[in-house]
Amino acid sequence: MKTRLLSKKQMQGLLSMKEVVELCARTFEDEARGGVDCPAKVPTHLQGPEGQPAGTVSVMPAFVGWQNAAGCKFIGGNTGRRSRGLPYIYASQLMIDPATGDLAGVMDAEYLTQMRTGAQTGAALRFMKGEGASLRVGLFGCGSQGYTQIQALAAVARITELRLYDIYRPAAEKMAGEVAGLVQGPVLVCDEPSQAADADLIALVTLSLTPVLKKEWVRPGTLIFALGTYQEVESELILAADKVIVDHIGQTMERGCLKTVVEEGRFGPEKVYATVSQLALGQKPLGDLSAQILLCVMIGTGMLDIAVGQEYLKRAKEKGVGALFDFLEEE
Ligand SMILES: NC(=O)c1ccc[n+]([C@@H]2O[C@H](COP(=O)([O-])OP(=O)(O)OC[C@H]3O[C@@H](n4cnc5c(N)ncnc54)[C@H](O)[C@@H]3O)[C@@H](O)[C@H]2O)c1
Repeated sequence: MKTRLLSKKQMQGLLSMKEVVELCARTFEDEARGGVDCPAKVPTHLQGPEGQPAGTVSVMPAFVGWQNAAGCKFIGGNTGRRSRGLPYIYASQLMIDPATGDLAGVMDAEYLTQMRTGAQTGAALRFMKGEGASLRVGLFGCGSQGYTQIQALAAVARITELRLYDIYRPAAEKMAGEVAGLVQGPVLVCDEPSQAADADLIALVTLSLTPVLKKEWVRPGTLIFALGTYQEVESELILAADKVIVDHIGQTMERGCLKTVVEEGRFGPEKVYATVSQLALGQKPLGDLSAQILLCVMIGTGMLDIAVGQEYLKRAKEKGVGALFDFLEEE
């Protein structure tokens, strides 16, 4: 079997954000039915030439039953890449045929990650509020993942106002122009993070190493999506949330928003109300959301990458996109 090789450019435009939201939603549902195997991501700690810490690269394997798809993504982030005009995230993905073990595809996964990180929020929002809700949205972090958060929210809801906050104001100003067409109301660039917290839904996708969202700014009825790799939500707000939802219990205890409160012994798996997959099939009703602060922590699962990668592979094959390479040199 020849392996299909796909570049970022070849993948762009093959799937719409609405389609990627649907793929993520179906995969969450499949996980709830027991059709998915998605271990926690495994981080490897890197060092620079002087032995200094150089971030982590994580391996994210998964099998997705409803598509009969399997594979593995590896992903890291490196702030030094910006000076080379490259995104912070770097990622690649291998896809195998689970029946034969043949290497079906090798693809760029930086663009794929952006699409699925947006789409996972879109799918989770659909499980929480249904399709077509009207929402005032506050976005913290106006970079690559921030853009697809807005794309995905616009695919499942009406954004009636968008408040953008970035520690680097020009990033928020640039994004305001890029997303204006996705918003049915004003797009405001905020000088202070508290202004962006005045919203029905807050999404955080920053590189901040310390919390940026404070408890005193958030009122009942707010949905918070904490998606960054480090803790972006103040510990007191985590502990005050009425319900905490996660994408993967094991890995959200070890990294991302909840890591510190877990290490301090103030939070643990028993305090998670539900996984996103349990919401998908209505196994855990949320009740009246207007009176609750809901915190949804999704640091990203391999199952969504594999589900989305499988569909990219299928579309590319149909359209004859991508090069074929024979790793086994059979002919
Ligand atoms: N949950 C997931 O599935 C998932 C997937 C991919 C990336 N991520 C994480 O999302 C985060 C953002 O990644 P990206 O690719 O968009 O990076 P990016 O560099 O493209 O964008 C990050 C933005 O955050 C801004 N920022 C940094 N500190 C801030 C602060 N204190 N307050 C407000 N804004 C701040 C930066 O100026 C930048 O514009 C990272 O933590 C990354 O690891 C999560």
